[in-house]
Amino acid sequence: MSSLSGKVCVVTGAGSGIGRALAENLAARGARLALSDVGEAGLQPTADRARAKGAEVHTARVDVSDRAAVTAYADAVATHFGVVHQIYNNAGVAHSNSILESEYEEYERVFGVNLWGVIHGTKAFLPHVIASGDGHVINVSSLNGYLAQPDMSHYCTTKFAVRGFTETLRAEMLQAGHRVGVTVVHPGGIKTNIATAAFEEAKASGKEVTPADEERRRLYNEKLLKMDPAQAAEIILSGVEAGRSRVLVGTDAKAVDLLVRLLPVRHATLFAALQKRMLK
Ligand SMILES: NC(=O)c1ccc[n+]([C@@H]2O[C@H](COP(=O)([O-])OP(=O)(O)OC[C@H]3O[C@@H](n4cnc5c(N)ncnc54)[C@H](O)[C@@H]3O)[C@@H](O)[C@H]2O)c1
Repeated sequence: MSSLSGKVCVVTGAGSGIGRALAENLAARGARLALSDVGEAGLQPTADRARAKGAEVHTARVDVSDRAAVTAYADAVATHFGVVHQIYNNAGVAHSNSILESEYEEYERVFGVNLWGVIHGTKAFLPHVIASGDGHVINVSSLNGYLAQPDMSHYCTTKFAVRGFTETLRAEMLQAGHRVGVTVVHPGGIKTNIATAAFEEAKASGKEVTPADEERRRLYNEKLLKMDPAQAAEIILSGVEAGRSRVLVGTDAKAVDLLVRLLPVRHATLFAALQKRMLK
């Protein structure tokens, strides 16, 4: 039997991609679920799939960048289930623009979801997770939590920070002797809606989109986002069940991790050339 059986697990950004796959896999492992997303359209189908696997499911529309909303949500989930064991801070957005051309608002929007969202979720749920006596905090960073890429400063800054925040949390839980596992997840390219959502967001905010941009997005999705989200969820949850502190998802995430450590400076030149070739 899975160690997740009967556990109350919270998943943010559960309406799509990795969040949806985590919800389905957690349901199959017998977990009870609190699923949330900023968009309700994707959330209900996720909840239906989890219920079809026999899970008890609580759903809520929550914007993780809204501190008051996340705080109230944590209390609502704890009241509903009486206990909370695990929080998967998964909600995230991508964004593309150079540092030279970015407006401060672009940083604020991405930081709000990817970094503040993780801090809000962790802080709001941590007292409940500690009180469960057998808790776990899982924060989703990225391969961009150790690899910087051009035009992704908003995303890379948040994902490097999620790693620092999560590793600090682990040190604090160890120091305090709390029975709380802490895992930072670094996925490589997973076949989800993340790049397309960022592209649509840019278009909606009035950014001029050329046919070359469209082509780059198509190539990015096709060549870099390859792993099925269900496989990613299986790797993440196997890592959580095994008590791993750091889970790298995919051969790309593992290869990049190794290269960055072997060539702490020179890898930047290599990756710039590689990316140029791949997205041509
Ligand atoms: N897909 C990849 O290749 C990849 C790689 C590395 C890391 N990640 C990370 O995995 C996580 C999940 O991304 P995904 O690829 O499944 O993307 P996705 O776009 O398919 O799903 C992200 C979900 O987050 C939700 N969301 C966005 N803003 C939100 C907010 N303010 N509050 C609550 N929910 C919000 C979206 O509505 C969506 O349902 C993200 O943190 C992402 O950075 C993804």
